Amino acid sequence: MEGKEKKSGFSSKIGFVLAAAGSAVGLGNLWRFPYLAAQYGGGIFLLVYLLLAVTFGFALMVTEIALGRKTGKSVIGAFSELHPKFSALGWVAAAVPLIIFPYYCVIGGWVIKYLWVYLVGQGASAADDGTYFSGFIGNLGPSAFFMFLFMAITALVVMLGVEKGIEKVSKIMMPILLLISVVIAGYVLTIDGAMAGLIYYIKPDFGNFSIKTLIAAMGQLFYSMSLAMGILFTYGSYMRKEDDLESSVRHIELFDTGVAFLAGLMIIPAVFAFSGGDESALGTGPSLMFITLPNVFESMAQGRLIGIIFFILVMLAALTSSISLMETLVSVLCERTKMKRIPACLVVFAVSMGLAMLSVLGYSSWSHVTIMGRQILDFFDFISNNVIMPLVALATCVLVAYVLGTKTVEEEVEQQNHTFKAKKLYRIVVRYIAPVILLMIFVSSLLGVV
Ligand code: PHE
Repeated sequence: MEGKEKKSGFSSKIGFVLAAAGSAVGLGNLWRFPYLAAQYGGGIFLLVYLLLAVTFGFALMVTEIALGRKTGKSVIGAFSELHPKFSALGWVAAAVPLIIFPYYCVIGGWVIKYLWVYLVGQGASAADDGTYFSGFIGNLGPSAFFMFLFMAITALVVMLGVEKGIEKVSKIMMPILLLISVVIAGYVLTIDGAMAGLIYYIKPDFGNFSIKTLIAAMGQLFYSMSLAMGILFTYGSYMRKEDDLESSVRHIELFDTGVAFLAGLMIIPAVFAFSGGDESALGTGPSLMFITLPNVFESMAQGRLIGIIFFILVMLAALTSSISLMETLVSVLCERTKMKRIPACLVVFAVSMGLAMLSVLGYSSWSHVTIMGRQILDFFDFISNNVIMPLVALATCVLVAYVLGTKTVEEEVEQQNHTFKAKKLYRIVVRYIAPVILLMIFVSSLLGVV
């Protein structure tokens, strides 16, 4: 009996880590991280990101999971229980997925399109300098269709509520994704000219540092670790009291950062190799993955097969994340309006389709429209990651450090005799470092520095 109990405790911690990692590992790691690293200075971006992940990312993830577990509530309920003055904060945090989910589906649609291209054996036509890709996103019909497809699959899963199945799939899929990434990255490094890219990616050049590097790295941290949008509160509320919170957070972080690092290793050296060392090729932004990798696959012996496997895995990783995004929206709607699950799914679907169409149009019929100098999809990405999330994170830190006291979180981490190993670091980060950096980011985002 006793052995059994221990085992179920253990497997439940693994289950928690994997579920959170499934939400965390997605397009943020595979698509967003490499293009940001390429754009914002390579090695220096990587260094800043890693430093932020082990300090700031760690502290915020611990805080969110601990507060979720302590209150047993979603982000809206948790904040109003913790402090009535902070209840609006829960709402702001819960609104973030509404901005992210629609445009996430746009990129998800691009992934399905590329999977299709490889399935029908047309990978060669996608391997060019970007003409194929811009032709595709510039064409309203097809890009709207693939976005719709991705969102419809997500909605179907959320309606059916087959979370168990998804969890099982991600347990098998995540290791395969890691393996394939290692194979592709290994291959990329053998291509002529890739070494210069590797150096650019891993060797920090302090001359490349600017406030933009910091802001971009911080925004990426929120996005990639699913922070500052209430998701981890919900996950925390499902976590068992006897599970070690601190080490779970370390594992989730390791997984998330590991996949991001590998994605950069696949893409950045390849950009160097195929552009003949032309650094301007690094600044192509969101389209980087869709332009560079087809060239890599084209030059590989089994390129078509690798292309198929790769895009299937990216699609699955993206789906597990988009499902968790939509699930959050649906559960907030159900909780607040007493609506039933299926109608709530339809409402979220309809609203998100509308918002996603704005992003799709932003690359096609409305490509002349810019908001704060950005295309529509970029604008949604920017406003959520660089403005709202820092604000939510700042308010969370202030609440914990100066209103409730860090004890609230520390005691939760130390439940059932666990020691909080990084307690000192945690205090310093939440009290001083995080608020200062967050304030800086918020202000410079608003002033349009980035
Ligand atoms: N973290 C996910 C990614 O890296 C995106 C995401 C954000 C998923 C928020 C769920 C919630 O792609």
